[in-house]
Amino acid sequence: MKLGFPAVDEDHERLLALAAEVELLIASASRVHKIRAKFHELVEHALAHFSREEAYMAACQYPDLAVHKSEHAELTEWLLHIEQALAEDGPNAGTAATDQTIAFFRAWIGRHLTSFDTAAVQFILAASRLHPA
Ligand SMILES: [Fe+2]
Ligand SMILES: [Fe+2]
Repeated sequence: MKLGFPAVDEDHERLLALAAEVELLIASASRVHKIRAKFHELVEHALAHFSREEAYMAACQYPDLAVHKSEHAELTEWLLHIEQALAEDGPNAGTAATDQTIAFFRAWIGRHLTSFDTAAVQFILAASRLHPA
């Protein structure tokens, strides 16, 4: 789903591509270190994306920045929790990342894109038309 702001759209595509890569590793019963590494990449990209998006919103004084940030913070907390669980060794190593984990992530992103990000990008684009760089 493209929102019309290429920098943000590319970030979202990459996020979903990384989720698909994690899913593939889980489905093919890959070794836990591979799943950990790919999940880490997903977390890093999500965190970088959230801060980029928040910077765009802040730059145009987006009025709903605080609530949007708290949405990002909630998913960040969940991602870090999964990553931590995934790092644990022992007989259950790697079981924190399942197809349900990825389904939850995808559903969250889908919901966030059609609500929070759509509204934010519309505001950013309107602001950039009013005040071209
Ligand atoms: Fe967002
Ligand atoms: Fe986003």
